[in-house]
Amino acid sequence: MADFDMIALIEATKRGSALDDRAIAGFVQSYMAGRVSEAQAAAWLMAVCLKGLDDGAASALTAAMAACGETLDLSDLAHTADKHSTGGVGDKVTLVACPLAVAAGCTVAKMSGRGLGHTGGTIDKLEAIPGFRTDLSAKEFRQQAARVGLVVASQSHELSPADRRLYALRHETATVDSLPLIAASVMSKKLAAGASSIVLDVKWGRGAFMGSADEAARLASLMCHIGASQGRAMGAAVTPMNQPLGFSVGHVLEVREAVETLRGDGPSDLEALSLELSAKMVHLSGAAESWEAARDAVGEALTSGRALAKLAEMVRSQGGDARVLDDPSRLPRAPLVDVLRSPTDGRISAVDALGIAQAVARLGGSRKGREAIDHRVGVRLLRKCGDPVEPGEPILEIHAPSTELLEHAKTIAGRAMRVGDAAGPPKAEFEIRWVS
Ligand code: URA
Repeated sequence: MADFDMIALIEATKRGSALDDRAIAGFVQSYMAGRVSEAQAAAWLMAVCLKGLDDGAASALTAAMAACGETLDLSDLAHTADKHSTGGVGDKVTLVACPLAVAAGCTVAKMSGRGLGHTGGTIDKLEAIPGFRTDLSAKEFRQQAARVGLVVASQSHELSPADRRLYALRHETATVDSLPLIAASVMSKKLAAGASSIVLDVKWGRGAFMGSADEAARLASLMCHIGASQGRAMGAAVTPMNQPLGFSVGHVLEVREAVETLRGDGPSDLEALSLELSAKMVHLSGAAESWEAARDAVGEALTSGRALAKLAEMVRSQGGDARVLDDPSRLPRAPLVDVLRSPTDGRISAVDALGIAQAVARLGGSRKGREAIDHRVGVRLLRKCGDPVEPGEPILEIHAPSTELLEHAKTIAGRAMRVGDAAGPPKAEFEIRWVS
């Protein structure tokens, strides 16, 4: 990149001019090689944040970021599908949708993250299962993908190392909230992870990073454009995250709820979303010829119990105690469980996902500011938006490690749960909007 001129790239971006793909690739390569200073990179990120990038430039940035590290070649595996959620509260969909997709014909070799901010991460949830290993070697990861068809491990540090550095710099420079930068960050890791089809769940609302459904749809459509420009089959669901998904928030509680869902006894929103996303994985990966056939296949994987058996196979293969799937009472439990009661009669008008996440964090269920998380703690909603309630009726359950934290969490969760007029809107159906 002898002729690469970083100052010219910053100038052009600052003016909102069309950018040359080679200049963007030059930036990523030169930054990683130490030939672009942190100050220049920060200036460029701020210019992107203020002026945006067109879709072509966002694709070029993503491809360059993906290419600067390790890229997995999964081309020897059949019908590879990956899934990514932009993050929410109570989002245990990976634990349900991936076994469903695999039992219906896909291969899912997935690298997942830990909790980010107030949102939970799949790796932290899986580590709530005694013995479960998420730090697989590249060889173990591949072998399990070929043998079981399903593997979920923590993300390799070698995947998109440019994202690791740029993400840290974005945090320091208030440039996180830029659609093209978020899209490039997420998609560079997904492209490097090698699946031929990628299904995204882009969440909006109080418990999500995107505030509105329209903003989430713009991000979804940009990520689909980027993936398609790199030859991947793409689908993105735009889904609400104003109240938590399902009833349970907290690692052990979420594992239990995922297993209940795979037994056909889960919350309707979690089941609906998991079936829809897994059907999309099956269809896009070519494991089924039509959308209808894909939906039938995941429906059968659920009712036959084959998806639950697939999850158990993955848990055993990664060293976990699969007996917890048959008998969840073997999972670790918090010593104290108490309920919060409705102060009045009426209808639940809001269950603020962010507030519930903050209550779980206060109990020790998030990594923020701590060495380790407490997998046992959490909140189980007994009522959700639109449900009628009587005065004194339990509306949520708190699983706590101590009386002190129980009381703190009760106050925070109490503020998140609002009871309105009995004539308020009844329970609404969970809304899934597809973007491609
Ligand atoms: N998650 C990511 O991986 N990157 C972002 O920029 C935002 C959320």
